[in-house]
Amino acid sequence: MNIESLTHSEIRNMSIECDKVGGFNLSQGISNLNLNNKLVEGIDRALKRGFNYYTQFDGDFELKNALSKKIISYNKINLDNKKIIVTSGATGAFYCACFAVLKPNDEVIVFEPYYGYHIKTIEAVGAKPTYVTLKGKDFDIDFEELENIITDRTKAILICTPSNPCGKIFSENDLQKLGLICKKNNLIVFTDEIYEYFLYDNKEHVSPGSLEIFDDNTITISGYSKTFSITGWRIGYCVVPEKYFEPIGHISDLFYVCSPSVLQNAVAYGINEINKNFYYNLIKKFTYKRDLLCSVLFDIGLNPTIPKGSYYIMADASSVDGKTSKEKAMQILNDTKVACVPGSEFYHSNKGENFVRFCFAKEDEILNQACNNLLKLNK
Ligand SMILES: Cc1ncc(COP(=O)(O)O)c(C=O)c1O
Repeated sequence: MNIESLTHSEIRNMSIECDKVGGFNLSQGISNLNLNNKLVEGIDRALKRGFNYYTQFDGDFELKNALSKKIISYNKINLDNKKIIVTSGATGAFYCACFAVLKPNDEVIVFEPYYGYHIKTIEAVGAKPTYVTLKGKDFDIDFEELENIITDRTKAILICTPSNPCGKIFSENDLQKLGLICKKNNLIVFTDEIYEYFLYDNKEHVSPGSLEIFDDNTITISGYSKTFSITGWRIGYCVVPEKYFEPIGHISDLFYVCSPSVLQNAVAYGINEINKNFYYNLIKKFTYKRDLLCSVLFDIGLNPTIPKGSYYIMADASSVDGKTSKEKAMQILNDTKVACVPGSEFYHSNKGENFVRFCFAKEDEILNQACNNLLKLNK
């Protein structure tokens, strides 16, 4: 990878622009919600128990135990022939997995709109992303386009469900069809499920790795950055077929050694002690935030696609002045002091120029003020 091509993402750029005007930052996916008491207790407990040292290369034993129970019961993934590796966030999991299983010039299919880190990570290991554009208002998969893009260099495919940036949830039906194509072409499946608990309108999360068709070649990636609002703790993991356990685990050891041991242990305590209500309330709170922001976006003519999961909204910015999505996002910031992300950040071609993305993982008070400001676009 050409290091010079590594520039700040538009998400960071918009955050800087937002700070300059003292605005409301709905661009970055940082959820600054209150920390659950059980996690505070978990840190205290881990400190008192002396969790100050490197953990095993694949993670703290107690965290792995807690994760196993959760992965079997929530994700319905059969762990008989798979193993868990605790990683430095979901970001670390994806990087180590790519590093371990891809070779230079391998192609990896990515659905667009995509999450920029996925692309940069694939490129960082010398592999090449190829793109399938999700179609229409509901971001549907065009299976014909998908089959047509497969070459003899295609090694893997990446699924992000629920999706950042468009909030799509891949249905079981979508996944079964995808699984057949992957099996036929012997593709490795990376699946990033970091938003697995952010589900709306009674939608259910289906982990591709729970379906038989994906069983033996799927690397499931997730973590607690988003669910527990602890993005700075760097606690993620991947669930991998046994054949990938040593290679990915050793790369993770080489790059990161381990995630902070106290925090690993605190998350284990959190997973075990935080009850169902927490997850139920998460959905309730975020449904309220989603509905609030979507209704304002409809009011001001930035028609959104209502996300089924995650905490982002893709909105149609055709009505905003500006030739590019960057100009449109800057116009919105100048007029309302609300920062969003230009759609170009999520597409490799110019298909994103009429979109902007808003993040609604913000305290209600901030979201309310941002919504009031956005209404100025109506005038
Ligand atoms: C799709 C997706 N995956 C991974 C991450 C980062 O997760 P982590 O903090 O666990 O590295 C993000 C953060 O925005 C994301 O949107």
